[in-house]
Amino acid sequence: MKKYKIAVIKGDGIGPEIIDEAKKVLDAAVLNADFGFSYSEYLMGGIAYDITKDPLPQETIEGCLNADAILFGAIGGDKWDNLPREKRPESGLLRLRKELNLYANYRPVKVYEELAEASALKSSVVEGVDLLVVRELTGGIYFGEPRVYDSKKSYNTMVYSKDEVKRIARDAFEAARVRRKKLCSVDKANVLEVSQFWRECVEEVSKDYPDVSLSHMYIDNAAMQLIKDPKQFDVILTSNLFGDILSDEASMISGSIGLLPSASIGGKVALFEPIHGSAPDIAGQGVANPLATIASASMMLRFALHQPEIADKIDKAIQIALKDGYRTKDIASFGAVEICSTTEMGSIVADIVSKM
Ligand SMILES: NC(=O)c1ccc[n+]([C@@H]2O[C@H](COP(=O)([O-])OP(=O)(O)OC[C@H]3O[C@@H](n4cnc5c(N)ncnc54)[C@H](O)[C@@H]3O)[C@@H](O)[C@H]2O)c1
Repeated sequence: MKKYKIAVIKGDGIGPEIIDEAKKVLDAAVLNADFGFSYSEYLMGGIAYDITKDPLPQETIEGCLNADAILFGAIGGDKWDNLPREKRPESGLLRLRKELNLYANYRPVKVYEELAEASALKSSVVEGVDLLVVRELTGGIYFGEPRVYDSKKSYNTMVYSKDEVKRIARDAFEAARVRRKKLCSVDKANVLEVSQFWRECVEEVSKDYPDVSLSHMYIDNAAMQLIKDPKQFDVILTSNLFGDILSDEASMISGSIGLLPSASIGGKVALFEPIHGSAPDIAGQGVANPLATIASASMMLRFALHQPEIADKIDKAIQIALKDGYRTKDIASFGAVEICSTTEMGSIVADIVSKM
Protein backbone atom coordinates (compact mmCIF):
# COMPACT_ATOMS: atom_id res chain seq x y z
CA MET A 1 0.00 0.00 0.00
CA LYS A 2 1.25 3.47 -0.91
CA LYS A 3 2.30 5.43 2.17
CA TYR A 4 2.79 9.17 1.81
CA LYS A 5 5.71 10.50 3.84
CA ILE A 6 4.46 13.34 6.02
CA ALA A 7 6.96 15.49 7.90
CA VAL A 8 5.19 16.61 11.05
CA ILE A 9 6.28 19.71 12.95
CA LYS A 10 4.23 20.16 16.09
CA GLY A 11 6.14 23.17 17.42
CA ASP A 12 5.17 25.13 20.51
CA GLY A 13 2.12 26.16 22.53
CA ILE A 14 -1.04 24.56 21.15
CA GLY A 15 0.92 23.10 18.20
CA PRO A 16 1.15 19.53 19.59
CA GLU A 17 -2.52 19.50 20.64
CA ILE A 18 -3.92 20.54 17.26
CA ILE A 19 -1.55 18.39 15.19
CA ASP A 20 -2.55 15.26 17.11
CA GLU A 21 -6.16 15.90 16.12
CA ALA A 22 -5.31 16.50 12.48
CA LYS A 23 -3.42 13.19 12.38
CA LYS A 24 -6.36 11.43 14.01
CA VAL A 25 -8.68 12.75 11.28
CA LEU A 26 -6.23 11.94 8.47
CA ASP A 27 -5.92 8.34 9.66
CA ALA A 28 -9.69 7.98 9.98
CA ALA A 29 -10.19 9.43 6.50
CA VAL A 30 -8.02 6.79 4.81
CA LEU A 31 -9.32 3.74 6.72
CA ASN A 32 -10.79 2.27 3.52
CA ALA A 33 -8.46 3.96 1.04
CA ASP A 34 -5.66 2.31 -0.90
CA PHE A 35 -3.07 4.61 0.63
CA GLY A 36 -1.94 5.68 4.08
CA PHE A 37 0.57 7.94 5.80
CA SER A 38 3.92 7.46 7.43
CA TYR A 39 4.60 10.33 9.81
CA SER A 40 8.04 11.54 10.90
CA GLU A 41 8.25 14.20 13.58
CA TYR A 42 10.81 17.00 13.46
CA LEU A 43 11.75 19.69 15.93
CA MET A 44 11.24 23.34 15.18
CA GLY A 45 10.63 26.61 17.00
CA GLY A 46 11.11 27.20 20.70
CA ILE A 47 11.21 23.51 21.56
CA ALA A 48 13.95 23.00 18.96
CA TYR A 49 15.91 25.89 20.45
CA ASP A 50 15.57 24.43 23.96
CA ILE A 51 16.91 21.07 22.84
CA THR A 52 19.43 21.96 20.12
CA LYS A 53 20.00 25.74 20.52
CA ASP A 54 18.75 26.15 16.94
CA PRO A 55 15.09 26.94 16.12
CA LEU A 56 15.50 25.14 12.79
CA PRO A 57 17.90 22.20 13.04
CA GLN A 58 19.43 20.90 9.82
CA GLU A 59 17.78 17.52 10.44
CA THR A 60 14.37 19.23 10.20
CA ILE A 61 15.22 20.85 6.86
CA GLU A 62 16.43 17.52 5.49
CA GLY A 63 13.38 15.66 6.84
CA CYS A 64 11.09 18.18 5.19
CA LEU A 65 12.94 17.98 1.88
CA ASN A 66 12.56 14.20 1.88
CA ALA A 67 8.84 14.24 2.61
CA ASP A 68 5.81 14.30 0.31
CA ALA A 69 4.30 17.12 2.37
CA ILE A 70 4.72 18.98 5.66
CA LEU A 71 2.05 19.31 8.31
CA PHE A 72 2.88 22.19 10.62
CA GLY A 73 1.35 23.24 13.96
CA ALA A 74 2.63 26.57 15.26
CA ILE A 75 5.76 27.99 16.85
CA GLY A 76 6.71 30.75 19.25
CA GLY A 77 5.90 32.08 22.70
CA ASP A 78 6.94 34.64 25.31
CA LYS A 79 9.61 32.31 26.65
CA TRP A 80 11.76 32.84 23.57
CA ASP A 81 10.91 36.49 22.84
CA ASN A 82 14.13 37.90 24.30
CA LEU A 83 16.52 35.69 22.37
CA PRO A 84 18.66 37.25 19.62
CA ARG A 85 16.53 37.50 16.47
CA GLU A 86 18.20 34.61 14.60
CA LYS A 87 17.58 32.27 17.53
CA ARG A 88 13.90 33.09 17.86
CA PRO A 89 11.27 30.55 16.74
CA GLU A 90 9.86 32.98 14.14
CA SER A 91 13.30 33.23 12.47
CA GLY A 92 13.26 29.45 12.17
CA LEU A 93 9.95 29.60 10.32
CA LEU A 94 11.14 32.36 7.98
CA ARG A 95 14.27 30.34 7.26
CA LEU A 96 12.26 27.18 6.59
CA ARG A 97 10.08 29.04 4.07
CA LYS A 98 13.20 30.35 2.36
CA GLU A 99 15.04 26.98 2.42
CA LEU A 100 12.04 25.23 0.87
CA ASN A 101 11.30 28.13 -1.50
CA LEU A 102 7.72 28.38 -0.22
CA TYR A 103 7.04 31.68 -1.90
CA ALA A 104 3.25 31.42 -2.29
CA ASN A 105 0.91 31.33 0.66
CA TYR A 106 -2.76 30.50 0.02
CA ARG A 107 -5.25 31.43 2.70
CA PRO A 108 -8.85 30.65 1.82
CA VAL A 109 -11.54 32.36 3.88
CA LYS A 110 -14.95 30.71 3.75
CA VAL A 111 -17.74 31.38 6.16
CA TYR A 112 -19.37 28.20 7.45
CA GLU A 113 -23.12 28.78 7.18
CA GLU A 114 -23.60 27.48 10.72
CA LEU A 115 -21.11 30.02 12.05
CA ALA A 116 -22.17 33.18 10.25
CA GLU A 117 -23.40 34.39 13.65
CA ALA A 118 -19.94 33.83 15.13
CA SER A 119 -18.46 36.63 13.05
CA ALA A 120 -17.84 39.98 14.66
CA LEU A 121 -19.66 41.36 11.60
CA LYS A 122 -23.37 41.14 10.79
CA SER A 123 -24.31 37.77 9.31
CA SER A 124 -25.83 39.54 6.30
CA VAL A 125 -22.34 40.94 5.57
CA VAL A 126 -20.44 37.66 5.93
CA GLU A 127 -22.87 34.99 4.70
CA GLY A 128 -21.54 33.53 1.47
CA VAL A 129 -18.03 35.02 1.77
CA ASP A 130 -15.61 32.89 -0.21
CA LEU A 131 -12.27 34.57 -0.84
CA LEU A 132 -8.66 33.57 -1.20
CA VAL A 133 -5.68 35.62 -0.04
CA VAL A 134 -2.54 34.86 -2.07
CA ARG A 135 0.39 36.25 -0.11
CA GLU A 136 3.99 36.49 -1.28
CA LEU A 137 5.96 34.67 1.41
CA THR A 138 9.70 34.75 0.83
CA GLY A 139 10.37 38.37 -0.11
CA GLY A 140 9.45 41.88 0.89
CA ILE A 141 10.18 43.57 4.18
CA TYR A 142 10.47 40.34 6.19
CA PHE A 143 13.59 39.38 4.26
CA GLY A 144 14.88 42.65 2.78
CA GLU A 145 18.42 43.85 3.51
CA PRO A 146 19.69 45.99 5.06
CA ARG A 147 17.89 45.46 8.33
CA VAL A 148 19.19 47.16 11.45
CA TYR A 149 18.15 47.30 15.06
CA ASP A 150 19.88 49.99 17.05
CA SER A 151 18.90 51.95 20.13
CA LYS A 152 19.13 55.25 18.19
CA LYS A 153 17.75 54.30 14.79
CA SER A 154 16.30 51.09 13.34
CA TYR A 155 15.04 50.10 9.91
CA ASN A 156 13.95 47.35 7.52
CA THR A 157 13.87 47.26 3.76
CA MET A 158 10.87 46.43 1.60
CA VAL A 159 12.31 45.10 -1.63
CA TYR A 160 10.87 43.07 -4.51
CA SER A 161 12.42 41.94 -7.77
CA LYS A 162 10.43 41.70 -11.00
CA ASP A 163 10.76 37.90 -10.99
CA GLU A 164 9.40 37.65 -7.44
CA VAL A 165 6.33 39.76 -8.18
CA LYS A 166 5.57 38.19 -11.55
CA ARG A 167 5.92 34.68 -10.10
CA ILE A 168 3.35 35.23 -7.33
CA ALA A 169 1.11 37.26 -9.64
CA ARG A 170 0.96 34.39 -12.12
CA ASP A 171 -0.06 31.99 -9.33
CA ALA A 172 -2.78 34.39 -8.20
CA PHE A 173 -4.13 34.77 -11.75
CA GLU A 174 -4.15 30.97 -12.14
CA ALA A 175 -6.09 30.65 -8.86
CA ALA A 176 -8.58 33.32 -9.97
CA ARG A 177 -9.03 31.62 -13.32
CA VAL A 178 -10.55 28.51 -11.68
CA ARG A 179 -12.65 30.59 -9.26
CA ARG A 180 -14.80 33.65 -10.06
CA LYS A 181 -12.11 35.24 -12.27
CA LYS A 182 -11.64 38.37 -10.18
CA LEU A 183 -8.25 39.43 -8.88
CA CYS A 184 -7.62 42.39 -6.60
CA SER A 185 -3.96 43.31 -6.08
CA VAL A 186 -3.34 45.18 -2.84
CA ASP A 187 -0.46 47.61 -2.42
CA LYS A 188 0.43 51.10 -1.24
CA ALA A 189 1.40 52.53 -4.62
CA ASN A 190 0.35 56.06 -3.65
CA VAL A 191 3.27 56.23 -1.18
CA LEU A 192 5.77 53.42 -1.76
CA GLU A 193 7.99 53.02 -4.84
CA VAL A 194 8.16 49.29 -4.23
CA SER A 195 4.34 49.16 -4.47
CA GLN A 196 4.32 51.22 -7.66
CA PHE A 197 6.74 48.65 -9.10
CA TRP A 198 4.57 45.78 -7.76
CA ARG A 199 1.56 47.26 -9.56
CA GLU A 200 3.42 47.58 -12.87
CA CYS A 201 4.60 43.95 -12.68
CA VAL A 202 1.08 42.70 -11.92
CA GLU A 203 -0.27 44.71 -14.87
CA GLU A 204 2.32 43.09 -17.11
CA VAL A 205 1.30 39.58 -16.04
CA SER A 206 -2.40 40.44 -16.48
CA LYS A 207 -1.86 40.62 -20.27
CA ASP A 208 -1.61 36.81 -20.24
CA TYR A 209 -4.92 36.51 -18.38
CA PRO A 210 -7.50 38.50 -20.34
CA ASP A 211 -10.27 36.31 -18.87
CA VAL A 212 -9.49 37.49 -15.31
CA SER A 213 -10.59 40.98 -14.29
CA LEU A 214 -7.85 42.81 -12.41
CA SER A 215 -8.30 45.66 -9.96
CA HIS A 216 -5.87 47.41 -7.61
CA MET A 217 -6.56 48.63 -4.10
CA TYR A 218 -4.48 50.46 -1.50
CA ILE A 219 -3.85 48.44 1.65
CA ASP A 220 -5.64 50.94 3.91
CA ASN A 221 -8.75 50.82 1.74
CA ALA A 222 -8.53 47.02 1.46
CA ALA A 223 -8.46 46.72 5.26
CA MET A 224 -11.66 48.79 5.33
CA GLN A 225 -13.39 47.05 2.42
CA LEU A 226 -12.76 43.62 3.97
CA ILE A 227 -14.92 44.66 6.91
CA LYS A 228 -17.45 46.70 4.94
CA ASP A 229 -18.17 44.30 2.09
CA PRO A 230 -16.00 41.14 2.08
CA LYS A 231 -18.20 39.49 -0.57
CA GLN A 232 -16.77 41.83 -3.23
CA PHE A 233 -13.48 39.86 -3.15
CA ASP A 234 -12.60 36.68 -4.99
CA VAL A 235 -8.77 36.46 -5.01
CA ILE A 236 -6.65 39.03 -3.18
CA LEU A 237 -2.99 39.18 -4.23
CA THR A 238 -0.57 40.94 -1.92
CA SER A 239 2.94 41.16 -0.53
CA ASN A 240 4.37 39.47 2.54
CA LEU A 241 3.68 42.15 5.17
CA PHE A 242 0.30 43.31 3.85
CA GLY A 243 -0.79 39.69 3.38
CA ASP A 244 0.15 38.79 6.94
CA ILE A 245 -2.08 41.51 8.32
CA LEU A 246 -4.96 41.24 5.84
CA SER A 247 -5.31 37.48 6.21
CA ASP A 248 -5.54 37.71 10.01
CA GLU A 249 -8.14 40.43 9.59
CA ALA A 250 -9.99 38.25 7.09
CA SER A 251 -10.02 35.41 9.63
CA MET A 252 -12.32 37.43 11.84
CA ILE A 253 -14.92 37.37 9.08
CA SER A 254 -15.15 33.61 9.61
CA GLY A 255 -15.68 33.94 13.36
CA SER A 256 -12.45 32.54 14.75
CA ILE A 257 -8.82 32.36 13.79
CA GLY A 258 -9.08 28.72 14.87
CA LEU A 259 -11.01 27.86 11.70
CA LEU A 260 -8.71 28.92 8.87
CA PRO A 261 -6.14 26.76 7.07
CA SER A 262 -3.28 27.69 4.77
CA ALA A 263 -0.95 26.19 2.21
CA SER A 264 2.56 27.39 1.44
CA ILE A 265 3.68 26.26 -1.97
CA GLY A 266 6.52 26.88 -4.39
CA GLY A 267 9.37 24.46 -3.99
CA LYS A 268 9.57 20.68 -4.11
CA VAL A 269 7.61 20.14 -0.90
CA ALA A 270 4.60 22.15 0.29
CA LEU A 271 3.74 23.07 3.86
CA PHE A 272 0.27 23.13 5.41
CA GLU A 273 -0.56 24.96 8.62
CA PRO A 274 -3.34 26.82 10.40
CA ILE A 275 -3.08 30.57 10.01
CA HIS A 276 -2.98 31.14 13.75
CA GLY A 277 0.03 31.11 16.02
CA SER A 278 0.94 28.99 19.03
CA ALA A 279 -1.66 30.68 21.29
CA PRO A 280 0.40 30.43 24.49
CA ASP A 281 -2.51 31.93 26.43
CA ILE A 282 -4.56 28.74 25.97
CA ALA A 283 -1.82 26.12 25.51
CA GLY A 284 -2.26 22.94 27.55
CA GLN A 285 -5.85 23.75 28.49
CA GLY A 286 -7.48 21.51 25.89
CA VAL A 287 -9.57 24.36 24.51
CA ALA A 288 -7.80 25.12 21.22
CA ASN A 289 -9.90 24.74 18.12
CA PRO A 290 -8.29 22.03 15.94
CA LEU A 291 -10.46 22.70 12.87
CA ALA A 292 -7.98 25.06 11.17
CA THR A 293 -5.31 22.36 11.36
CA ILE A 294 -7.73 19.64 10.25
CA ALA A 295 -8.71 21.85 7.29
CA SER A 296 -4.99 22.35 6.57
CA ALA A 297 -4.60 18.56 6.44
CA SER A 298 -7.41 18.54 3.91
CA MET A 299 -5.57 21.14 1.81
CA MET A 300 -2.50 18.89 2.01
CA LEU A 301 -4.50 15.99 0.56
CA ARG A 302 -5.89 18.19 -2.19
CA PHE A 303 -2.85 20.19 -3.29
CA ALA A 304 0.20 18.09 -2.37
CA LEU A 305 -1.00 14.49 -2.43
CA HIS A 306 -3.65 14.94 -5.15
CA GLN A 307 -6.33 13.07 -3.25
CA PRO A 308 -9.30 15.44 -3.67
CA GLU A 309 -11.96 12.86 -2.77
CA ILE A 310 -10.53 12.28 0.70
CA ALA A 311 -10.04 16.04 1.10
CA ASP A 312 -13.72 16.56 0.22
CA LYS A 313 -14.68 14.02 2.88
CA ILE A 314 -12.73 15.86 5.58
CA ASP A 315 -14.23 19.22 4.57
CA LYS A 316 -17.70 17.68 4.66
CA ALA A 317 -17.03 16.08 8.07
CA ILE A 318 -16.04 19.47 9.52
CA GLN A 319 -19.27 20.94 8.18
CA ILE A 320 -21.36 18.12 9.63
CA ALA A 321 -19.71 18.48 13.06
CA LEU A 322 -20.57 22.19 13.03
CA LYS A 323 -24.09 21.57 11.72
CA ASP A 324 -24.63 19.05 14.54
CA GLY A 325 -23.76 21.81 17.00
CA TYR A 326 -20.33 20.72 18.20
CA ARG A 327 -18.29 23.76 19.19
CA THR A 328 -14.94 24.47 20.80
CA LYS A 329 -14.78 27.34 23.28
CA ASP A 330 -13.76 30.03 20.73
CA ILE A 331 -17.04 29.54 18.83
CA ALA A 332 -19.06 28.27 21.79
CA SER A 333 -21.92 30.72 21.85
CA PHE A 334 -23.11 30.22 18.30
CA GLY A 335 -25.61 27.41 17.81
CA ALA A 336 -23.79 25.16 20.26
CA VAL A 337 -25.39 21.88 21.23
CA GLU A 338 -22.25 20.58 22.89
CA ILE A 339 -19.05 22.36 23.94
CA CYS A 340 -16.02 20.22 23.11
CA SER A 341 -12.41 20.06 24.11
CA THR A 342 -9.69 19.99 21.44
CA THR A 343 -9.50 16.17 21.51
CA GLU A 344 -13.27 15.75 21.55
CA MET A 345 -13.64 17.91 18.44
CA GLY A 346 -10.90 15.91 16.69
CA SER A 347 -12.58 12.62 17.64
CA ILE A 348 -16.00 13.83 16.45
CA VAL A 349 -14.65 14.83 13.02
CA ALA A 350 -12.63 11.59 12.82
CA ASP A 351 -15.70 9.54 13.69
CA ILE A 352 -17.82 11.29 11.04
CA VAL A 353 -15.18 10.92 8.34
CA SER A 354 -14.56 7.24 9.12
CA LYS A 355 -18.24 6.48 8.40
CA MET A 356 -18.32 8.25 5.03
N1 LIG B 1 2.93 30.24 11.85
C1 LIG B 1 3.16 30.34 13.15
O1 LIG B 1 3.63 29.42 13.77
C2 LIG B 1 2.81 31.62 13.86
C3 LIG B 1 1.90 32.54 13.32
C4 LIG B 1 1.54 33.66 14.06
C5 LIG B 1 2.10 33.87 15.31
N2 LIG B 1 3.01 32.97 15.79
C6 LIG B 1 3.58 33.10 17.14
O2 LIG B 1 2.59 32.63 18.06
C7 LIG B 1 2.78 33.30 19.32
C8 LIG B 1 1.46 33.91 19.77
O3 LIG B 1 1.08 34.92 18.86
P1 LIG B 1 -0.30 35.71 18.90
O4 LIG B 1 -0.88 35.61 20.26
O5 LIG B 1 -0.05 37.02 18.30
O6 LIG B 1 -1.25 34.96 17.85
P2 LIG B 1 -2.06 33.62 18.01
O7 LIG B 1 -2.67 33.34 16.68
O8 LIG B 1 -1.24 32.53 18.61
O9 LIG B 1 -3.24 33.96 19.04
C9 LIG B 1 -4.10 35.08 18.87
C10 LIG B 1 -5.38 34.83 19.67
O10 LIG B 1 -6.16 33.81 19.02
C11 LIG B 1 -6.39 32.71 19.88
N3 LIG B 1 -6.24 31.48 19.10
C12 LIG B 1 -5.23 31.20 18.24
N4 LIG B 1 -5.41 29.97 17.74
C13 LIG B 1 -6.52 29.46 18.30
C14 LIG B 1 -7.21 28.21 18.18
N5 LIG B 1 -6.79 27.23 17.37
N6 LIG B 1 -8.32 28.02 18.92
C15 LIG B 1 -8.79 28.99 19.72
N7 LIG B 1 -8.19 30.19 19.88
C16 LIG B 1 -7.06 30.42 19.16
C17 LIG B 1 -5.33 32.83 20.98
O11 LIG B 1 -5.78 32.20 22.17
C18 LIG B 1 -5.14 34.34 21.09
O12 LIG B 1 -6.12 34.87 21.93
C19 LIG B 1 3.86 34.36 19.08
O13 LIG B 1 5.07 33.86 19.56
C20 LIG B 1 3.90 34.51 17.57
O14 LIG B 1 5.14 34.93 17.07
C21 LIG B 1 3.36 31.85 15.11
